[in-house]
Amino acid sequence: MNSNEKNSAKSVRHFLTLTDLTTDEFKQLIYRAIELKTMQHRGEVFEPLKNKVLAMIFEKSSTRTRVSFESGMAQFGGHAIFLSPRDTQLGRGEPVEDSARVLSSMADCLMVRTFEHKKAERLAEYSSVPVINGLTDDVHPCQLLADMQTWFEQRGDIQGKTVTWIGDGNNMCHSYMHAAKILDFQLNIACPEGFEPQQSFIDETRENISIIRDARAACKDSDLIVTDVWASMGQEEEQKQRELAFKNYQVNSKLMQQANSNALFMHCLPAHRGEEVSADVIDGSQSVVWQEAENRLHAQKALLEFLLV
Ligand code: CP
Ligand code: NVA
Repeated sequence: MNSNEKNSAKSVRHFLTLTDLTTDEFKQLIYRAIELKTMQHRGEVFEPLKNKVLAMIFEKSSTRTRVSFESGMAQFGGHAIFLSPRDTQLGRGEPVEDSARVLSSMADCLMVRTFEHKKAERLAEYSSVPVINGLTDDVHPCQLLADMQTWFEQRGDIQGKTVTWIGDGNNMCHSYMHAAKILDFQLNIACPEGFEPQQSFIDETRENISIIRDARAACKDSDLIVTDVWASMGQEEEQKQRELAFKNYQVNSKLMQQANSNALFMHCLPAHRGEEVSADVIDGSQSVVWQEAENRLHAQKALLEFLLV
């Protein structure tokens, strides 16, 4: 059951994972994001969220997610409030259920970046307004809206294409698995033993994914190569051990050469040059990481409009 089915009685639409969207809705959001980007670049003023407020809870650090939501709300004529556990009662043990009731009585939409995915689900369960997942330990659906927008802008529909994920079976990898199922592409996952995606995500997306241990073999015939940090937020103490485990999983020019010659490279950022990706790849001609980062703004504006207007 997805979060919208759970909340159907209240008819509040949440965005906790990509599976909260149908295929048509996902594509609609991508096309709308492309339109909103053109409007923004032309300098058109468009304020569909005038006087609306987005309350954003950040229990983990962020540059892109925070700034894209704050800028997006400002451009739409609304306002965003940044809340961190350090200076709110959330950090002093106020239950998430109580926070959800209070915040949703004052704001029109909530965004949460946190550790446990269940916490985001509890927030949504007790919120009377839409809740957007800005990253949990399990998934990062907003990033996939931007990644897929970037692909569609560069290459058109992704149906039937081959994407290769290199590295950790983490939150980003799980969201790529969801995207593969919803948009119908093939996802090769190259990860070392012990760093596979969670079994529930494998079960959910089995028809669209393959786990291939050898990174070079996984890149063969690929149209898009994607990677992410080896140690995610909250795993800082495992950095050294992970550097060893992932040493054969760096996306460098040798690996890119295994993919199709017009393959693109994406990374959600922040990146560590010399670890999961070499400088010549991330700063090279196949990399679309800056478009991908900018598209966080446009894709999330499309999402806010979809949820709130
Ligand atoms: N990609 C991404 O979510 O970046 P931030 O952690 O800076 O928000
Ligand atoms: N997997 C990374 C993504 C950062 C945007 C993390 O969770 O830290």
